Amino acid sequence: MPSLLSADFANLQSAIESVPSADALHVDVMDNHFVPNLTLGLPVVESIRSVTEAMLDIHLMIEDPDRWAPGYADAGAESVTFHIEAASAPVRLARELRNRGARAGMALKPATPIEAYRDLLPEIDMVLIMTVEPGFGGQKFLDLMLPKITRTRELLDAVGGDIWLQIDGGVSVETIERCAEAGADAFVAGSAVFNADDPDAMVQTLRTLTSPG
Ligand code: DX5
Ligand code: ZN
Repeated sequence: MPSLLSADFANLQSAIESVPSADALHVDVMDNHFVPNLTLGLPVVESIRSVTEAMLDIHLMIEDPDRWAPGYADAGAESVTFHIEAASAPVRLARELRNRGARAGMALKPATPIEAYRDLLPEIDMVLIMTVEPGFGGQKFLDLMLPKITRTRELLDAVGGDIWLQIDGGVSVETIERCAEAGADAFVAGSAVFNADDPDAMVQTLRTLTSPG
């Protein structure tokens, strides 16, 4: 799914319309506290909601998601992901998101181990493994995250159910196959899509690489 972080923020609607093949639109919300960058918030997400029926996948890189995340579910986002490092009461928050009709996602920065959170997995619908330090698009994929992807896949298989494993950061034609082989099943790509000559063709190319044969 394309990350709008690498789109032209003055022309979000045309950016959205440039990727009709996308399974979802990934929206990066940053507050300049949890990460050293500032992007957009709820009013912009509400505007995005009003111009597209696409699935909205909100990635909150913010402090105090316990307070702010439910508003994104209320705005009609189908998936809302908070960082586990920032959440005070992740189980309560995940339940609140689900009660408001959204899938609940839990994101982990590169240095955060998944093992500490294995007991929480039945409460969530997606694990997001960051494959760059969050904050900026266009960074280099961290190969050293591949073992964590594999270990997360094993934990998710043990829990069962329909928990997605999403990869975000440095995903491109060079790296996406390694992520899929390690067990990821949802892929965010920002610069690879929006810096391509044909963003929608790139979405299709990336999807093909995740399902060989
Ligand atoms: C980074 C964001 C990503 C970013 C990915 O903190 O969470 O979603 O847009 O951009 P690329 O694909 O360029 O690494
Ligand atoms: Zn993201």
